[in-house]
Amino acid sequence: MSHSPQPQTDKTERVSKLIARAGVASRRAAEDLISAGRVAVNGHFISEQGTKADPEQDKITVDGTPLKLEDKPPLVVVLHKPKYTITTRDDPEKRATVFDLLPHTYANLHPVGRLDFETSGVLLLSDDGTLTHLLTHPSHGVEKVYEARVRGTVEKGAIEHLERGVRLEDGVTAPCRARVLAQREKNALVEITLREGRNRQVRRMLEEVGHPASSLRRVSFAGVELEGLQSGEHRELLPAEVKQLRRVSELGLKRKSRPRAKPKPHPRPALQAENADAENGVRAPRADAKPHARMSRTNNGRARSARANEGRATARNGDGRTEGARANNGRANSARSNSERANEAENRADEKSPIARRIARKWKS
Ligand code: URA
Repeated sequence: MSHSPQPQTDKTERVSKLIARAGVASRRAAEDLISAGRVAVNGHFISEQGTKADPEQDKITVDGTPLKLEDKPPLVVVLHKPKYTITTRDDPEKRATVFDLLPHTYANLHPVGRLDFETSGVLLLSDDGTLTHLLTHPSHGVEKVYEARVRGTVEKGAIEHLERGVRLEDGVTAPCRARVLAQREKNALVEITLREGRNRQVRRMLEEVGHPASSLRRVSFAGVELEGLQSGEHRELLPAEVKQLRRVSELGLKRKSRPRAKPKPHPRPALQAENADAENGVRAPRADAKPHARMSRTNNGRARSARANEGRATARNGDGRTEGARANNGRANSARSNSERANEAENRADEKSPIARRIARKWKS
């Protein structure tokens, strides 16, 4: 940066954002540092909040200490968003927002895409606009997995319709994967895997095929799953997980240059073989998802939500999986029946944590 006005290259970013990215202070606190005259760019103290600098070219100091940006990977948090919270910072209607569930130190994060007010599940928040763009831009086709409880008996035809593409008012949806996880007398649990992210897409698709969703949960975004996070809890992704996120989002770009094929179903050979209902599109639920399908954690050294830790009784091992998860996977293909698996998936579809119940009570009253 030349002192003022600085040349604007496409690499320049607000100094407050760079300070936040370096982990020195939240974005808000960084603005206070600037106002207090404690931040300098190339030796010149700055006071304008909008001042931008090029992190590769300019030397930014806070109280005389240079910012170290290159060592700091983007900060990404996964939140188990409860129903009846809004994916925004401030709501004019004063509804509970996802930021109400996070510590103030995360005030500089922004949501990576959105979940509806009534939808629960995996919501990523990041402090890196480029990563967010990679993960949310439709052309990158990042995979999102949803579980919906729907009314009625879901026939094979409806599943095929969902997979082929559904005509919505904003156009026909791209091919996707869909399957019935559990069919009950009056309702079913359906899993849908999308590479698009249109407004209320899953709800609209299900309505269009005659099975409106009574509840909807995102169970995975770009491979990041809830993995034991109770509703309202969060954790930071490890640097290795963030790297993997970047890889996943960039893969979408490479895929684009090849002809677009219908996404292949996750191979689950043992389950498919034993599942008599497979012909109806009824297969075993995600409770048996193979561990490699998850984005596993490689160590437990990073700070996680205290609340998240309180709720966990399981021990974590060097390979990053919980004892509980290992036990589940060990049993997956043997003792448990499909109906037990279906019950597990259905239980997961309900809001169970105290915070979720509190928010639900508030919005139901
Ligand atoms: N599809 C929906 O209908 N709602 C969401 O929140 C996300 C996807």
